Amino acid sequence: MIEILGAGKDYVLDGRIVTAFDGVDLKLDPGEIVSIVGPSGCGKSSLLKAVAGLEPLTRGEVRFQGQPVKGPNPRIGVVFQEARLLPWLTIRENAALAARFSAHRGLVDPHRVDELLFRVGLDGFASAYPSQVSGGMAQRAALARTLLQRPALILFDEPFASLDALRRMELQGWLFRMLKEDGTGALFVTHDLDEALVMGDRVAVMTGRPGRICRLYDVPRPAGAAEPVDLSSPPLEFWELKSSILKDLAATGGLRGALVS
Ligand SMILES: Nc1ncnc2c1ncn2[C@@H]1O[C@H](COP(=O)(O)OP(=O)(O)O)[C@@H](O)[C@H]1O
Ligand SMILES: [Mg+2]
Repeated sequence: MIEILGAGKDYVLDGRIVTAFDGVDLKLDPGEIVSIVGPSGCGKSSLLKAVAGLEPLTRGEVRFQGQPVKGPNPRIGVVFQEARLLPWLTIRENAALAARFSAHRGLVDPHRVDELLFRVGLDGFASAYPSQVSGGMAQRAALARTLLQRPALILFDEPFASLDALRRMELQGWLFRMLKEDGTGALFVTHDLDEALVMGDRVAVMTGRPGRICRLYDVPRPAGAAEPVDLSSPPLEFWELKSSILKDLAATGGLRGALVS
């Protein structure tokens, strides 16, 4: 569904070239979720922006459903670290917004808007304005907004970083099932290794800048299971995988960045 081929990105900063990432190759099947972990500043956000068509690559190519990505595409949704809600619209209006511009416009079901707000725990706040809710609540509204757009692929950039641990675990499980039910693929950038393993069918580990993918792991999950790993009693392979990824990150010198920021 998505193919990243020899992708590289240079920025010019104070007259010198900063290569954010380079030589990145990755292919996702339809409905597949790939988590991306790597040290701070290794180009994860830059890579997502290129896949979203928000910033051009310097080298290489991104193809979505066989076509080169040249700009934003309503079939590719994005959930950033910050909610980016419109302050003059209510939570419900914000949630329904992207769907109005989506490939399924006209099919926006007001029940689905309310159902999604309920699922993210915002049903009592549908008429509130972004300034009247917490950062975590705004982020959950942003999640509902992107899911309502019904994209084939969602790019997540540390979407749960501002949430408390319980809400985060609850939303991880919920989002995983939601993506699997809808057959929506995802690239899921996170600093949290547990989260990477809960969300991903595979986990891609990136090196420090210029970031490239140094390892790709399959996450052991019963074949075809649409259930996330239960973090209260994770299988043994889960710990082995986590330890392996930690060693990879330590080897790239990225362990501090991965755990601290
Ligand atoms: N718009 C920009 N202009 C110049 N440099 C940038 C820009 N965006 C990102 N960078 C640089 O690219 C590198 C990768 O950044 P980023 O993709 O945000 O990393 P990550 O998300 O992995 O922490 C960093 O060194 C950052 O300073
Ligand atoms: Mg980032």
